[in-house]
Amino acid sequence: IKRIGVITSGGDAPGMNAAIRAVVRACSYYHVSCVGFFNGYNGLINGEFEELDARSVRNIINLGGTFLKSARSKEFRTKEGRAKAYKVLQKEKVDGLVLIGGDGTFAGGQIFSKEYDIPVIGVPGTIDNDIFGTSHTIGYDTALNTVVTAIDKIRDTASSHDRLFFIEVMGRDAGFIALNTGIGAGAEEILIPEENLGLDRLLDSLEKSRRSGKSSSIVIVSEGDKIGKSVFQLADYVKENLPYYDAKVTVLGHIQRGGVPTCFDRVLASRLSVKAVELLLDDQKNLMVGLKDDNIISCPLDDVIHEKPSINKDLLRISEILST
Ligand code: F6P
Repeated sequence: IKRIGVITSGGDAPGMNAAIRAVVRACSYYHVSCVGFFNGYNGLINGEFEELDARSVRNIINLGGTFLKSARSKEFRTKEGRAKAYKVLQKEKVDGLVLIGGDGTFAGGQIFSKEYDIPVIGVPGTIDNDIFGTSHTIGYDTALNTVVTAIDKIRDTASSHDRLFFIEVMGRDAGFIALNTGIGAGAEEILIPEENLGLDRLLDSLEKSRRSGKSSSIVIVSEGDKIGKSVFQLADYVKENLPYYDAKVTVLGHIQRGGVPTCFDRVLASRLSVKAVELLLDDQKNLMVGLKDDNIISCPLDDVIHEKPSINKDLLRISEILST
């Protein structure tokens, strides 16, 4: 391998810049050249790229977002799109790729790599933490802290006005953000897609909490929750059935994707990305790097794409005990 390409793709996540920096600096350390493609796979298809050296990534370790920009490329899902991308790689003599993103990014990379025999290594970057093969994805820790900080603020006003707040958090089909911020911010109830607790149970719990003397309450709702109602409908349903509750809704939305990455995310991004370059230089391909028990490991992209990470449901039990 003489020349490595790097992209950030899918939803951006804080720490992606730290990951790009580590890819570029590792390339420089090992004396291989590095090219950054813009806008995810679209940059590969359209030949939008920039030569990157150790100095091009100065002062970005602390920045949210991704300076290479990100996209979910529709064209790369087509054979024609991937053929264009391969032509660009051939022309620019790029012989290995580091893909920073989530499962959609890896699924595309895996197909591409099999079609054209281009070695690819995935680096998990998404706030959702919904990737098999790693305990943590880049951006997840920052998002948790952003959410907890926001909920702390909502708690202040909820308490002053004796209100019930439904707070929707991101996570796509996974409840990692909801579950962990629910515990971290001391929510009364946490609704996640992995466990449908049902509407009756929600009403029971809110009723109990009222009877136990609580005057304000916080319910965290994961956006992928399967209870069958939107967060607004949930609030209305509770107001109809428990009229003493003054229920409000806050959808945290994209603030969860931005902001200064935490130290944890910067260190994770740095370790994973150096390893990704080292694997390519070691003639490895079609792997994703991940964190397991504080060690950097790698696992086949095939497994990452086909398996789902499991959520720690014991946290629901802890939440129930602590919201008593
Ligand atoms: O995958 C990250 C994520 O923020 C999800 O939590 C969310 O469902 C989705 O991306 C939102 O995507 P977009 O920014 O395209 O609206």
